[in-house]
This record gives sequence, C-alpha cells and structure tokens, in this order.
Amino acid sequence: MHGTIFTLLKRYVQTQYDHSTWIQLLENSGLTATDFDHKHVYPDEHMYRLVGQASAMTGIPAHELQEKLGEYLVPDLMYMYQKLLQPEWTTLDMLEHTEYTMHRQVRSEHTENAPPVLNVTRIGPDELFIDYVSKRRMGALAVGIVRGVAAYYDEADVIKIEPTTSENGEEVRIRVRRLR
Ligand code: HEM
Repeated sequence: MHGTIFTLLKRYVQTQYDHSTWIQLLENSGLTATDFDHKHVYPDEHMYRLVGQASAMTGIPAHELQEKLGEYLVPDLMYMYQKLLQPEWTTLDMLEHTEYTMHRQVRSEHTENAPPVLNVTRIGPDELFIDYVSKRRMGALAVGIVRGVAAYYDEADVIKIEPTTSENGEEVRIRVRRLR
C-alpha cells in the first residue's frame, strides 16, 4: 500500500498517543523503525499487522480504528490532490467523482498502486450508493473517509452514512444521504 497511508497512520498514532506508542506498535507488529515515505509502496500485510496490533494494544476493535484513521486521512489527501477538486463540489459530488479523478490519478502514479474500485450510483441530489470493491477488505476505512469528507465540507451534521452490507467483505455497499 501507498506510503502516504503509512505516514499518516504513523502521525495519527504519534498525535493521538505519543511517539513511544508508535515505536511499541512497530515492535509488536514485527516491523523495524524505518520511515515510510510517500514515494514508495509497502506490503499490505504491514498495514494489517499495524491495525491488528493497534487494536490489541488499545482494545478498540480493528474496524473502529480503520474508521478513525480514514477520517484522519482526509484533510491531507484533499490537500495533496487539491488540483483535482472542483470548487463547486460538496460531499456527495466529491464522492461521486473519486473513482475517475483522484483514484484514477493514484493508479497512474505507480503500477503497484491499487486503490479500491468505488462504483458510485447517484440516486439523486441528496443520495448515493458507493459499491466498494477491494481484496484488502478495508470497507471500514472507506466509511471513515466518507465521514472525513463530510467534515471537510462542513456537512458532518447532515450527511448520514450507512453500510448496508458487512464492512469486512471484499464488496461493501455504503449508502450516503444528505438530510435537508
Ligand atoms: C481526495 C480523495 C482521495 C484520494 C487522494 C485517495 C487516495 C488514496 C490512496 C493514495 C490510496 C492508497 C492506494 C494504494 O496503496 O494502492 C487509497 C486507498 C484507499 N481509498 Fe482513497 N482516496 C481518496 C478518496 C477516497 C474516498 C472518498 C474513499 C471512500 C469512499 C476512499 C477509499 C479508500 C480505501 C478504503 C483505501 C484503502 C485501500 C483498499 O481498501 O483497497 N478513498 N486512496
């Protein structure tokens, strides 16, 4: 997986907890304290181990940690790819365009990059479905990212996010609605 996701996970742990917690987490995950960087791709297995160990260390279920991390990632992802964002977009428009703009760009940057496929069906101005497809089974991260996008657009109070399948599968359906 893309080094950016690891770098942000590291910063999340360092800011929510502290640096020594991060070192402990690496050690418990059987990883060395090398720095991750955004130009490299690291094994998915390392991400699974870090999330699994973080869950064991905090007692917070892995899917909840993924959601929190997803939420945390958004401001940085938006900043890094801001050129692809249209000024008139709000939460639902941004979600509708992720697959063919931001994730497409990510795929083109490195042959090893493989962001999930997000098949989005816009039901109307205030509703859409995201069909997440990925062998990584990180639908909970997707739910967190959607929450982060709503916060980014200052719509956290009006955007309702409901996974309509289990969050753990290779295919996850997420319903997103805006309340008027
Ligand atoms: C500014 C918008 C976005 C950017 C720049 C972005 C970028 C990325 C990048 C760089 C990765 C790592 C890919 C890899 O390592 O192969 C990734 C993975 C991922 N993205 Fe996005 N993303 C964006 C929006 C979204 C949205 C809106 C969702 C959910 C609806 C989403 C869901 C995910 C998930 C769940 C992963 C983890 C990998 C997996 O499940 O296979 N992303 N994204």
